[in-house]
Amino acid sequence: MALGPINTVFRALSDPTRLRLLHLLLDGEICVCDLCAVLGVLQPSISRHLAYLVRSDLVTARPVGKWKYYAIIDEPDGLGSDLISCLRSCLADVDVCQADRTRLEGILKRRDCCRHSNTPSSNQPAMMETTEMNTHKKIVETVRSRYAEFATSGRSSQNETVHSVAEGFGYDAEQLASIPAEANMALSCGNPVAQANLQPGEVVVDLGCGGGLDVFLAAKKVGADGKVIGIDMTAEMIDLARGNAVKFGQGAAPGNVEFHLATIDQIPLADASVDCVISNCVINLAPDKKAVFRDAFRVLKPGGRFVVSDIALKKPLPPEVKDDVAAYTGCLAGATTLTVYEKELIEAGFADVQIMDSQADLNAYRRTEGSSCGCSAPKTSTDKSSPNCCSGDNTQAADDSPTKSSNVLDDFDVNVFAASVSVLAMRPE
Ligand SMILES: C[S@@+](CC[C@H](N)C(=O)[O-])C[C@H]1O[C@@H](n2cnc3c(N)ncnc32)[C@H](O)[C@@H]1O
Repeated sequence: MALGPINTVFRALSDPTRLRLLHLLLDGEICVCDLCAVLGVLQPSISRHLAYLVRSDLVTARPVGKWKYYAIIDEPDGLGSDLISCLRSCLADVDVCQADRTRLEGILKRRDCCRHSNTPSSNQPAMMETTEMNTHKKIVETVRSRYAEFATSGRSSQNETVHSVAEGFGYDAEQLASIPAEANMALSCGNPVAQANLQPGEVVVDLGCGGGLDVFLAAKKVGADGKVIGIDMTAEMIDLARGNAVKFGQGAAPGNVEFHLATIDQIPLADASVDCVISNCVINLAPDKKAVFRDAFRVLKPGGRFVVSDIALKKPLPPEVKDDVAAYTGCLAGATTLTVYEKELIEAGFADVQIMDSQADLNAYRRTEGSSCGCSAPKTSTDKSSPNCCSGDNTQAADDSPTKSSNVLDDFDVNVFAASVSVLAMRPE
């Protein structure tokens, strides 16, 4: 039996994530996309663990199209039946492993796309390679899928929890009552319009506008002679925002508001065409923040303002949180440190950069309902499930059956590691 160097095998078995992966693979071959979904961990991290198991001769990988399927190596080259039955009996009663198994069954049952099959299919969606570009693409798709769920969840200020979370981040009841209730989904982490000193006639762009919350508040400030443009990459959000605009205009969208489907690193606006860039809890979600800052700088007129609410890290996150999908889509794991935030803004050309900790309580969501962090608002009774396996969105599984394994954020004090910040900067004249 070729187990590979014995120390490598024991090292492979010494890691909890790798043990969970092995346990799942005991019953047969599984696609990497399903393993990511079950563990609620981003693919680069799962792929690293799987590569370790492959190097240790415990597991084999089989490419199918551009996806990879993993299986325990059977005798004579693999673990051997004794070790397999030992793993089976040791792990069978472990809570986290049982929960993994239940979750996997749920995922396979719910799935109506990229079916888990041993038959190679040329229709399989492309598995993301671990190049930087493809990792970025994967992250964007995961984020988009998560926010599409929020956009269609029906949550609004009419829900008491959603209302109170928004109040906790700086909106007052009067502001919330002055815009369509569905524009607020408790996805914010500040109130940039309150800080932007917007003037009648100004042109404003809101990066990652969601349902239009800040767009509508800004539209009141800039008036009919101004314009507020909301940018969001999630089609469902743009649809929601456009529907909200009709409500906001009491039957017809006002002429000073428009929404565009685009990513915020490629803003579909002309150079030097905007007086003020606002954004609320979005830039932390963008994998290429330097590109976002460069493009924000490009669209600002000389003297234009960058007024952003966001989440930044006070210190590095523990690895299990850093790798957690829910922590990423929840505006935490993608955040950079305060120092890097400032440095990258300056590198993009901004001046007078100020980043202030607003001292808002980032555990607010968890204290109310559900167990998410950051801008992933609490689950409410109006949430609907729409899993999209091929998009790489693993968070659905995490939400559906919370377990110790998947919800690393359950007991995590977000305030220790991260802050809700107000970022102010200028494009020099
Ligand atoms: C946390 S929500 C905030 C929404 C809104 N700003 C608010 O406060 O209600 C993040 C929003 O940004 C969008 N988003 C995330 N990453 C983006 C990107 N790279 N480009 C464009 N939109 C993005 C999501 O679709 C989602 O609507």
